[in-house]
Amino acid sequence: MTTAADLAVKTLGPCRIDSPLRPLLENRRTTTHYVGEDDRVLFHDTASLVRDSGYSVDALPGFEPAGPRRNIFFDASKMRVGIVTCGGLCPGLNDVIRGIVMELTFHYGVTRILGFRNGYQGFVARYGHDVVDLTPRVVSNIDEDGGTILGTSRGEQDPQEIVDCLERMNVGALFVIGGDGTLRGAMQLTSAIAERGGRIAVVGIPKTIDNDIPYIDQSFGFQTAFGEATKSIQAAHVEAKASPNGVGLVKLMGRHSGFIACYASLAEPDANYVLIPEVPFQLDGPHGLLEHLLERVRRHGHAVIVAAEGAGQDLIPDTAAGVDASGNRRLEDIGLHLKTRITRHFAAAGVELNLKYIDPSYAIRSVPANPYDSVYCLRLAQNAVHAAMAGRTEMVVGRWHGRFVHVPIPLAVSHRNQVAPDGDLWLSVLEATGQPRSFGG
Ligand code: F6P
Repeated sequence: MTTAADLAVKTLGPCRIDSPLRPLLENRRTTTHYVGEDDRVLFHDTASLVRDSGYSVDALPGFEPAGPRRNIFFDASKMRVGIVTCGGLCPGLNDVIRGIVMELTFHYGVTRILGFRNGYQGFVARYGHDVVDLTPRVVSNIDEDGGTILGTSRGEQDPQEIVDCLERMNVGALFVIGGDGTLRGAMQLTSAIAERGGRIAVVGIPKTIDNDIPYIDQSFGFQTAFGEATKSIQAAHVEAKASPNGVGLVKLMGRHSGFIACYASLAEPDANYVLIPEVPFQLDGPHGLLEHLLERVRRHGHAVIVAAEGAGQDLIPDTAAGVDASGNRRLEDIGLHLKTRITRHFAAAGVELNLKYIDPSYAIRSVPANPYDSVYCLRLAQNAVHAAMAGRTEMVVGRWHGRFVHVPIPLAVSHRNQVAPDGDLWLSVLEATGQPRSFGG
Protein backbone atom coordinates (compact mmCIF):
# COMPACT_ATOMS: atom_id res chain seq x y z
CA MET A 1 0.00 0.00 0.00
CA THR A 2 1.26 3.48 -0.85
CA THR A 3 2.05 5.50 2.27
CA ALA A 4 2.64 9.20 2.92
CA ALA A 5 6.37 8.40 3.15
CA ASP A 6 6.37 7.04 -0.44
CA LEU A 7 4.96 10.38 -1.64
CA ALA A 8 7.40 12.61 0.27
CA VAL A 9 9.57 14.75 -2.03
CA LYS A 10 13.21 15.48 -1.22
CA THR A 11 14.37 19.06 -0.87
CA LEU A 12 17.84 20.59 -0.94
CA GLY A 13 17.17 22.84 2.04
CA PRO A 14 15.01 25.64 3.40
CA CYS A 15 13.58 28.20 0.95
CA ARG A 16 14.84 31.56 2.23
CA ILE A 17 14.55 33.70 -0.89
CA ASP A 18 11.44 35.61 -1.89
CA SER A 19 10.10 34.26 -5.18
CA PRO A 20 9.71 36.78 -8.00
CA LEU A 21 6.31 35.18 -8.53
CA ARG A 22 5.18 36.07 -5.01
CA PRO A 23 2.97 39.00 -6.11
CA LEU A 24 0.94 36.56 -8.21
CA LEU A 25 0.48 34.21 -5.29
CA GLU A 26 -0.62 36.37 -2.37
CA ASN A 27 -4.07 35.53 -1.02
CA ARG A 28 -4.41 32.35 -3.06
CA ARG A 29 -6.06 29.49 -1.24
CA THR A 30 -7.23 26.05 -2.27
CA THR A 31 -10.21 26.12 -4.61
CA THR A 32 -11.63 23.65 -7.11
CA HIS A 33 -9.05 24.88 -9.59
CA TYR A 34 -6.05 25.48 -7.39
CA VAL A 35 -4.25 23.61 -4.64
CA GLY A 36 -2.41 25.73 -2.07
CA GLU A 37 1.29 25.00 -1.65
CA ASP A 38 0.80 23.60 1.88
CA ASP A 39 -2.11 21.41 0.84
CA ARG A 40 -1.94 17.84 -0.56
CA VAL A 41 -3.53 16.17 -3.61
CA LEU A 42 -5.04 12.99 -2.26
CA PHE A 43 -3.64 9.76 -3.61
CA HIS A 44 -7.00 7.95 -3.49
CA ASP A 45 -10.08 9.34 -5.21
CA THR A 46 -12.81 6.84 -4.44
CA ALA A 47 -14.73 6.41 -1.22
CA SER A 48 -13.86 2.72 -1.00
CA LEU A 49 -10.12 3.27 -1.50
CA VAL A 50 -10.15 5.94 1.20
CA ARG A 51 -12.16 3.72 3.52
CA ASP A 52 -9.98 0.68 2.89
CA SER A 53 -6.79 2.65 3.52
CA GLY A 54 -7.86 2.95 7.17
CA TYR A 55 -6.36 6.46 7.49
CA SER A 56 -8.09 9.44 9.05
CA VAL A 57 -8.64 12.38 6.66
CA ASP A 58 -5.60 14.24 8.00
CA ALA A 59 -3.33 11.21 7.63
CA LEU A 60 -4.42 10.26 4.10
CA PRO A 61 -1.47 9.95 1.74
CA GLY A 62 -1.27 12.77 -0.78
CA PHE A 63 1.08 14.22 -3.39
CA GLU A 64 2.78 17.57 -2.94
CA PRO A 65 1.01 19.95 -5.33
CA ALA A 66 3.08 21.43 -8.14
CA GLY A 67 3.22 25.17 -8.77
CA PRO A 68 5.12 28.30 -7.78
CA ARG A 69 6.15 28.79 -4.16
CA ARG A 70 6.24 32.10 -2.27
CA ASN A 71 9.80 31.35 -1.17
CA ILE A 72 12.45 29.63 -3.23
CA PHE A 73 15.80 27.94 -2.61
CA PHE A 74 17.93 29.25 -5.47
CA ASP A 75 19.15 32.76 -6.17
CA ALA A 76 18.31 33.00 -9.87
CA SER A 77 20.84 35.73 -10.59
CA LYS A 78 23.71 33.43 -9.59
CA MET A 79 22.39 30.25 -11.03
CA ARG A 80 23.21 28.00 -13.97
CA VAL A 81 20.73 25.43 -15.20
CA GLY A 82 21.09 22.35 -17.44
CA ILE A 83 18.60 20.55 -19.66
CA VAL A 84 18.98 17.10 -21.23
CA THR A 85 16.68 14.88 -23.33
CA CYS A 86 17.19 11.11 -23.25
CA GLY A 87 15.72 7.92 -24.75
CA GLY A 88 13.40 7.53 -27.75
CA LEU A 89 11.73 10.52 -29.38
CA CYS A 90 8.34 11.70 -28.25
CA PRO A 91 6.16 14.55 -29.58
CA GLY A 92 6.54 17.63 -27.40
CA LEU A 93 10.20 17.38 -26.40
CA ASN A 94 10.95 20.75 -27.96
CA ASP A 95 7.87 22.26 -26.30
CA VAL A 96 9.20 21.17 -22.92
CA ILE A 97 12.68 22.58 -23.61
CA ARG A 98 11.15 25.85 -24.80
CA GLY A 99 8.82 26.03 -21.80
CA ILE A 100 11.65 25.54 -19.30
CA VAL A 101 13.84 28.19 -20.95
CA MET A 102 11.02 30.76 -21.15
CA GLU A 103 9.90 30.21 -17.54
CA LEU A 104 13.43 30.37 -16.14
CA THR A 105 14.30 33.46 -18.15
CA PHE A 106 11.19 35.60 -17.97
CA HIS A 107 9.81 34.67 -14.55
CA TYR A 108 12.87 33.84 -12.46
CA GLY A 109 15.56 35.83 -14.27
CA VAL A 110 17.94 32.91 -14.85
CA THR A 111 20.28 33.90 -17.67
CA ARG A 112 22.56 30.88 -18.00
CA ILE A 113 20.81 27.81 -19.37
CA LEU A 114 22.85 25.01 -20.91
CA GLY A 115 21.57 22.29 -23.21
CA PHE A 116 23.52 19.03 -22.96
CA ARG A 117 23.56 17.11 -26.20
CA ASN A 118 22.57 13.53 -27.00
CA GLY A 119 21.25 12.38 -23.65
CA TYR A 120 23.56 11.46 -20.79
CA GLN A 121 26.45 11.20 -23.28
CA GLY A 122 26.44 15.02 -23.33
CA PHE A 123 28.05 15.15 -19.85
CA VAL A 124 30.84 12.71 -20.59
CA ALA A 125 34.05 14.22 -21.94
CA ARG A 126 35.11 11.33 -24.19
CA TYR A 127 32.05 11.75 -26.44
CA GLY A 128 33.11 15.30 -27.25
CA HIS A 129 29.58 16.69 -27.63
CA ASP A 130 29.34 20.48 -27.45
CA VAL A 131 27.04 22.32 -25.03
CA VAL A 132 24.32 24.64 -26.36
CA ASP A 133 23.48 28.02 -24.79
CA LEU A 134 19.71 28.02 -24.56
CA THR A 135 18.18 31.47 -24.77
CA PRO A 136 14.63 32.57 -25.58
CA ARG A 137 15.85 33.47 -29.07
CA VAL A 138 17.34 29.99 -29.64
CA VAL A 139 14.18 28.17 -28.50
CA SER A 140 11.51 30.57 -29.73
CA ASN A 141 10.18 28.43 -32.62
CA ILE A 142 11.47 24.97 -31.80
CA ASP A 143 8.01 23.76 -30.78
CA GLU A 144 7.06 23.79 -34.47
CA ASP A 145 9.34 20.81 -35.08
CA GLY A 146 9.26 17.21 -33.91
CA GLY A 147 12.29 15.59 -32.27
CA THR A 148 14.57 17.42 -29.87
CA ILE A 149 17.00 20.22 -30.70
CA LEU A 150 19.37 18.73 -28.12
CA GLY A 151 19.50 15.26 -29.67
CA THR A 152 19.08 12.16 -27.57
CA SER A 153 20.60 8.76 -26.86
CA ARG A 154 19.76 5.63 -24.97
CA GLY A 155 21.80 4.05 -22.26
CA GLU A 156 23.44 4.74 -18.92
CA GLN A 157 26.55 6.79 -18.27
CA ASP A 158 28.65 6.82 -15.11
CA PRO A 159 26.77 9.04 -12.61
CA GLN A 160 30.07 10.17 -11.05
CA GLU A 161 31.27 11.49 -14.42
CA ILE A 162 27.97 13.30 -14.93
CA VAL A 163 28.15 14.93 -11.50
CA ASP A 164 31.80 15.87 -12.16
CA CYS A 165 30.58 17.70 -15.25
CA LEU A 166 27.69 19.40 -13.43
CA GLU A 167 30.07 20.59 -10.70
CA ARG A 168 32.68 21.75 -13.20
CA MET A 169 30.06 23.78 -15.02
CA ASN A 170 28.51 25.05 -11.80
CA VAL A 171 25.03 23.77 -12.64
CA GLY A 172 22.53 24.26 -9.80
CA ALA A 173 19.53 22.50 -11.32
CA LEU A 174 19.27 19.84 -13.99
CA PHE A 175 16.08 19.11 -15.92
CA VAL A 176 16.00 15.55 -17.20
CA ILE A 177 13.42 14.74 -19.87
CA GLY A 178 13.19 10.98 -20.27
CA GLY A 179 11.50 7.67 -19.57
CA ASP A 180 11.95 5.06 -16.86
CA GLY A 181 15.58 4.18 -17.71
CA THR A 182 16.49 7.88 -17.76
CA LEU A 183 14.72 8.47 -14.46
CA ARG A 184 16.60 5.57 -12.86
CA GLY A 185 19.75 7.32 -14.08
CA ALA A 186 18.48 10.55 -12.47
CA MET A 187 18.08 8.70 -9.16
CA GLN A 188 21.71 7.59 -9.35
CA LEU A 189 22.66 11.22 -9.98
CA THR A 190 20.83 12.46 -6.91
CA SER A 191 22.58 9.80 -4.80
CA ALA A 192 25.99 10.75 -6.21
CA ILE A 193 25.25 14.46 -5.56
CA ALA A 194 24.09 13.74 -1.99
CA GLU A 195 27.19 11.61 -1.27
CA ARG A 196 29.32 14.60 -2.21
CA GLY A 197 27.22 16.91 -0.04
CA GLY A 198 26.17 18.81 -3.20
CA ARG A 199 23.13 21.02 -3.68
CA ILE A 200 22.08 20.30 -7.27
CA ALA A 201 18.36 19.86 -7.96
CA VAL A 202 17.45 17.04 -10.36
CA VAL A 203 13.91 17.40 -11.66
CA GLY A 204 12.41 15.12 -14.29
CA ILE A 205 9.72 15.56 -16.89
CA PRO A 206 8.50 12.02 -17.62
CA LYS A 207 8.55 11.16 -21.32
CA THR A 208 7.06 8.07 -22.92
CA ILE A 209 4.78 7.68 -25.92
CA ASP A 210 3.86 4.29 -24.46
CA ASN A 211 2.23 6.08 -21.50
CA ASP A 212 3.84 3.48 -19.24
CA ILE A 213 5.03 5.66 -16.35
CA PRO A 214 2.74 5.24 -13.33
CA TYR A 215 1.16 7.96 -11.14
CA ILE A 216 0.73 10.26 -14.13
CA ASP A 217 -2.72 10.59 -15.71
CA GLN A 218 -1.18 10.59 -19.17
CA SER A 219 2.30 11.28 -20.47
CA PHE A 220 3.01 14.21 -22.80
CA GLY A 221 3.11 13.34 -26.49
CA PHE A 222 0.91 10.31 -25.99
CA GLN A 223 -2.17 12.03 -27.37
CA THR A 224 -0.28 13.23 -30.45
CA ALA A 225 1.19 9.75 -31.00
CA PHE A 226 -2.11 7.90 -30.84
CA GLY A 227 -3.65 10.63 -33.00
CA GLU A 228 -1.03 9.91 -35.67
CA ALA A 229 -1.66 6.19 -35.30
CA THR A 230 -5.34 6.67 -36.19
CA LYS A 231 -4.24 7.57 -39.74
CA SER A 232 -2.86 4.05 -40.18
CA ILE A 233 -6.04 2.46 -38.84
CA GLN A 234 -8.11 4.59 -41.19
CA ALA A 235 -5.88 3.57 -44.12
CA ALA A 236 -6.11 -0.10 -43.14
CA HIS A 237 -9.90 0.14 -43.04
CA VAL A 238 -10.10 1.82 -46.45
CA GLU A 239 -7.78 -0.82 -47.94
CA ALA A 240 -9.64 -3.70 -46.31
CA LYS A 241 -13.03 -2.54 -47.58
CA ALA A 242 -11.74 -2.02 -51.12
CA SER A 243 -10.86 -5.69 -51.84
CA PRO A 244 -12.74 -8.96 -51.49
CA ASN A 245 -11.92 -10.51 -48.10
CA GLY A 246 -9.71 -7.57 -47.25
CA VAL A 247 -7.82 -7.63 -43.96
CA GLY A 248 -6.04 -4.49 -42.74
CA LEU A 249 -3.33 -5.22 -40.20
CA VAL A 250 -1.69 -2.37 -38.27
CA LYS A 251 1.24 -2.69 -35.88
CA LEU A 252 1.70 0.18 -33.41
CA MET A 253 4.39 1.04 -30.88
CA GLY A 254 3.81 -0.11 -27.33
CA ARG A 255 6.43 -2.40 -25.94
CA HIS A 256 4.86 -3.54 -22.69
CA SER A 257 1.80 -1.31 -22.54
CA GLY A 258 -0.95 -1.26 -25.15
CA PHE A 259 -2.28 2.25 -24.51
CA ILE A 260 -1.48 3.55 -28.01
CA ALA A 261 -3.26 0.59 -29.64
CA CYS A 262 -6.29 1.01 -27.33
CA TYR A 263 -6.66 4.78 -27.65
CA ALA A 264 -6.01 4.87 -31.41
CA SER A 265 -8.61 2.13 -31.87
CA LEU A 266 -11.15 4.03 -29.79
CA ALA A 267 -10.43 7.28 -31.63
CA GLU A 268 -10.77 5.55 -35.02
CA PRO A 269 -13.23 2.80 -34.12
CA ASP A 270 -12.80 0.72 -37.28
CA ALA A 271 -10.67 -1.92 -35.61
CA ASN A 272 -12.36 -5.29 -35.10
CA TYR A 273 -9.49 -6.76 -33.10
CA VAL A 274 -7.09 -5.01 -30.76
CA LEU A 275 -4.16 -7.04 -29.45
CA ILE A 276 -2.07 -5.74 -26.56
CA PRO A 277 0.79 -7.12 -24.44
CA GLU A 278 -1.34 -7.15 -21.29
CA VAL A 279 -3.96 -9.56 -22.69
CA PRO A 280 -2.58 -12.89 -23.91
CA PHE A 281 -4.35 -14.57 -26.83
CA GLN A 282 -4.13 -17.76 -28.82
CA LEU A 283 -4.01 -17.98 -32.60
CA ASP A 284 -5.00 -21.62 -33.11
CA GLY A 285 -7.98 -23.72 -32.14
CA PRO A 286 -11.73 -23.25 -32.65
CA HIS A 287 -11.79 -20.19 -30.36
CA GLY A 288 -8.42 -18.80 -31.43
CA LEU A 289 -7.96 -15.49 -33.25
CA LEU A 290 -7.38 -17.03 -36.70
CA GLU A 291 -10.64 -18.95 -36.78
CA HIS A 292 -12.57 -15.96 -35.41
CA LEU A 293 -11.05 -13.72 -38.07
CA LEU A 294 -11.86 -16.19 -40.85
CA GLU A 295 -15.49 -16.33 -39.73
CA ARG A 296 -15.74 -12.56 -39.51
CA VAL A 297 -14.30 -12.08 -42.99
CA ARG A 298 -16.67 -14.74 -44.36
CA ARG A 299 -19.61 -12.86 -42.83
CA HIS A 300 -18.59 -9.20 -43.33
CA GLY A 301 -16.11 -9.35 -46.19
CA HIS A 302 -13.36 -7.45 -44.38
CA ALA A 303 -11.66 -6.92 -41.00
CA VAL A 304 -9.15 -4.61 -39.31
CA ILE A 305 -6.62 -5.78 -36.69
CA VAL A 306 -4.54 -3.42 -34.54
CA ALA A 307 -1.64 -5.03 -32.71
CA ALA A 308 0.66 -3.36 -30.20
CA GLU A 309 4.25 -4.36 -30.94
CA GLY A 310 4.58 -6.14 -27.59
CA ALA A 311 1.44 -8.25 -28.06
CA GLY A 312 1.64 -12.04 -28.46
CA GLN A 313 5.39 -12.28 -27.95
CA ASP A 314 4.90 -15.72 -26.41
CA LEU A 315 3.53 -16.96 -29.75
CA ILE A 316 6.68 -16.21 -31.74
CA PRO A 317 9.79 -18.38 -31.73
CA ASP A 318 12.49 -16.52 -29.79
CA THR A 319 15.33 -15.41 -32.04
CA ALA A 320 17.39 -14.22 -29.06
CA ALA A 321 17.37 -10.68 -30.44
CA GLY A 322 19.01 -9.37 -27.24
CA VAL A 323 18.46 -6.01 -25.54
CA ASP A 324 18.80 -2.38 -26.63
CA ALA A 325 21.06 0.24 -25.00
CA SER A 326 18.38 0.95 -22.39
CA GLY A 327 18.25 -2.73 -21.45
CA ASN A 328 14.86 -3.31 -23.11
CA ARG A 329 14.41 -6.74 -24.71
CA ARG A 330 14.26 -6.41 -28.49
CA LEU A 331 10.86 -7.64 -29.56
CA GLU A 332 9.99 -10.20 -32.18
CA ASP A 333 7.83 -8.78 -34.99
CA ILE A 334 4.23 -9.62 -34.10
CA GLY A 335 2.99 -7.83 -37.22
CA LEU A 336 4.91 -10.03 -39.64
CA HIS A 337 4.11 -13.12 -37.59
CA LEU A 338 0.38 -12.38 -37.75
CA LYS A 339 0.63 -11.68 -41.47
CA THR A 340 2.26 -15.09 -42.08
CA ARG A 341 -0.14 -17.00 -39.86
CA ILE A 342 -3.28 -15.32 -41.24
CA THR A 343 -2.14 -15.90 -44.82
CA ARG A 344 -1.51 -19.60 -44.10
CA HIS A 345 -4.81 -20.03 -42.26
CA PHE A 346 -6.90 -18.54 -45.08
CA ALA A 347 -4.98 -20.59 -47.67
CA ALA A 348 -5.59 -23.78 -45.69
CA ALA A 349 -9.31 -22.96 -45.57
CA GLY A 350 -9.31 -22.21 -49.32
CA VAL A 351 -10.56 -18.67 -48.70
CA GLU A 352 -9.30 -15.71 -50.73
CA LEU A 353 -7.41 -13.13 -48.67
CA ASN A 354 -6.24 -9.61 -49.48
CA LEU A 355 -4.12 -8.60 -46.52
CA LYS A 356 -2.53 -5.15 -46.28
CA TYR A 357 0.04 -4.69 -43.52
CA ILE A 358 0.78 -1.16 -42.26
CA ASP A 359 3.54 -0.40 -39.76
CA PRO A 360 3.78 3.37 -39.16
CA SER A 361 6.63 2.69 -36.71
CA TYR A 362 8.55 5.88 -35.79
CA ALA A 363 6.21 8.08 -37.84
CA ILE A 364 3.82 8.35 -34.88
CA ARG A 365 6.41 9.78 -32.51
CA SER A 366 8.62 12.01 -34.66
CA VAL A 367 5.92 14.61 -35.34
CA PRO A 368 5.41 17.94 -33.51
CA ALA A 369 3.01 17.93 -30.57
CA ASN A 370 -0.65 18.63 -31.23
CA PRO A 371 -2.16 21.72 -29.52
CA TYR A 372 -3.40 19.73 -26.51
CA ASP A 373 0.04 18.20 -25.93
CA SER A 374 1.72 21.57 -26.47
CA VAL A 375 -0.34 23.08 -23.65
CA TYR A 376 0.38 20.08 -21.45
CA CYS A 377 4.13 20.24 -22.20
CA LEU A 378 4.25 23.94 -21.37
CA ARG A 379 2.47 23.45 -18.08
CA LEU A 380 4.72 20.52 -17.14
CA ALA A 381 7.75 22.64 -18.00
CA GLN A 382 6.51 25.60 -15.91
CA ASN A 383 5.83 23.32 -12.96
CA ALA A 384 9.21 21.61 -13.29
CA VAL A 385 10.87 25.03 -13.08
CA HIS A 386 8.83 26.02 -10.01
CA ALA A 387 9.84 22.74 -8.34
CA ALA A 388 13.55 23.11 -9.08
CA MET A 389 13.63 26.76 -8.00
CA ALA A 390 12.06 25.68 -4.70
CA GLY A 391 14.91 23.18 -4.24
CA ARG A 392 12.93 20.02 -4.91
CA THR A 393 14.98 17.11 -6.19
CA GLU A 394 14.70 13.44 -7.24
CA MET A 395 11.16 14.08 -8.43
CA VAL A 396 9.16 14.37 -11.63
CA VAL A 397 6.25 16.62 -12.41
CA GLY A 398 3.07 14.82 -13.31
CA ARG A 399 -0.69 15.17 -13.35
CA TRP A 400 -2.69 13.01 -11.00
CA HIS A 401 -6.49 13.06 -11.17
CA GLY A 402 -6.25 16.25 -13.22
CA ARG A 403 -3.98 18.18 -10.84
CA PHE A 404 -0.28 18.91 -11.33
CA VAL A 405 1.79 17.24 -8.62
CA HIS A 406 5.34 16.30 -7.60
CA VAL A 407 6.00 12.58 -7.87
CA PRO A 408 9.15 11.18 -6.21
CA ILE A 409 11.24 9.38 -8.84
CA PRO A 410 11.47 6.13 -6.84
CA LEU A 411 7.66 5.94 -7.05
CA ALA A 412 7.57 6.86 -10.74
CA VAL A 413 9.93 3.97 -11.58
CA SER A 414 8.48 1.50 -9.06
CA HIS A 415 6.48 -0.35 -11.70
CA ARG A 416 5.08 0.04 -15.20
CA ASN A 417 1.72 1.59 -16.05
CA GLN A 418 -0.23 -0.96 -18.07
CA VAL A 419 -3.72 -1.46 -19.43
CA ALA A 420 -5.66 -3.41 -16.79
CA PRO A 421 -7.37 -6.40 -18.47
CA ASP A 422 -10.29 -5.99 -16.04
CA GLY A 423 -10.29 -2.18 -16.13
CA ASP A 424 -12.50 0.41 -17.81
CA LEU A 425 -10.25 1.12 -20.79
CA TRP A 426 -10.04 -2.48 -21.95
CA LEU A 427 -13.80 -2.84 -21.45
CA SER A 428 -14.30 0.17 -23.74
CA VAL A 429 -12.08 -1.49 -26.34
CA LEU A 430 -14.06 -4.74 -26.10
CA GLU A 431 -17.30 -2.76 -26.46
CA ALA A 432 -16.00 -0.76 -29.44
CA THR A 433 -14.52 -3.71 -31.34
CA GLY A 434 -17.01 -6.40 -30.40
CA GLN A 435 -14.13 -8.85 -30.05
CA PRO A 436 -14.49 -11.64 -27.47
CA ARG A 437 -13.02 -11.20 -24.00
CA SER A 438 -10.37 -13.72 -24.86
CA PHE A 439 -9.15 -15.91 -27.70
CA GLY A 440 -8.78 -19.33 -26.12
CA GLY A 441 -7.60 -22.42 -27.93
O1 F6P B 1 9.82 3.83 -25.49
C1 F6P B 1 9.01 4.27 -26.48
C2 F6P B 1 9.22 3.53 -27.78
O2 F6P B 1 8.81 4.37 -28.83
C3 F6P B 1 8.53 2.18 -27.84
O3 F6P B 1 7.17 2.25 -28.16
C4 F6P B 1 9.34 1.48 -28.89
O4 F6P B 1 9.29 0.08 -28.72
C5 F6P B 1 10.71 1.97 -28.61
O5 F6P B 1 10.59 3.22 -28.00
C6 F6P B 1 11.59 2.07 -29.84
O6 F6P B 1 12.86 2.41 -29.41
P1 F6P B 1 14.09 2.87 -30.33
O7 F6P B 1 13.95 4.34 -30.48
O8 F6P B 1 15.29 2.54 -29.52
O9 F6P B 1 14.00 2.12 -31.61
